Amino acid sequence: MPITRRTFTAVAAASGAALVVMGPEALAQETRQAQGADQPRPNDLKEDNKAKLAKEPFSIGAPARYREPGLYQGFKQDKGVWVVSDGKTLVALSATCTHLACTTHWDPVKQQFKCPCHNSRFSLEGINQEGSKAKRPLERCSVRLVQTQSGVEIVVDPTRRLRQDKGEWSDPAASAPLT
Ligand code: FES
Repeated sequence: MPITRRTFTAVAAASGAALVVMGPEALAQETRQAQGADQPRPNDLKEDNKAKLAKEPFSIGAPARYREPGLYQGFKQDKGVWVVSDGKTLVALSATCTHLACTTHWDPVKQQFKCPCHNSRFSLEGINQEGSKAKRPLERCSVRLVQTQSGVEIVVDPTRRLRQDKGEWSDPAASAPLT
C-alpha cells in the first residue's frame, strides 16, 4: 500500500491514539550519535531492546482513529508495534529490527526508523535503506477488522507476521482498510 512519508505530531489529542514525540530512548540515541558512539556495542543489544513484541493479539481501537495519515507510536513501548496510516489503509510494523532483533526508534528529523545497535535504517513504510545491516524490511503484523459490542475495531496479531521479501505484504491481512 502506498504510504506517504508525511508524519505528524498533533493527531493524538484528536484521535486518542499515539503521539509522535522524541522520547528518552530517542534522545539517548541522539546523544550517542553526537558523541560518535554509533558503533555496535554489546550492551546495546540488552539496553535498547526493551520493547518486546506482544505475544497475543490486541485491539488498537476503531479505524476512525487512524484516518489522519502518519505514524502512531503509542503501541511501540508496550506492544513493540509501529502503526502507520496513509489515511485509507493501516499497517502494523513490528518494531523489531530484522538484523539482530534490537528495537527500532523513530527519527523525526530524518523521518525514518533507526536501529540503535548497528544503525540500520528503515523508511516509514518499513523498507530497509541502502547500507543497512538489515537486509530485509521490517515485518508487518497481521491486522483485521473485528466487530465488537462498541463497534468495529482493528485487531493486531503480532504472532502472525508478514514479510515483504516473501511477497506476503500483498496478503489481505497485511493491511486494514480505514474506510
Ligand atoms: S540489530 Fe543490528 S542493525 Fe538492528
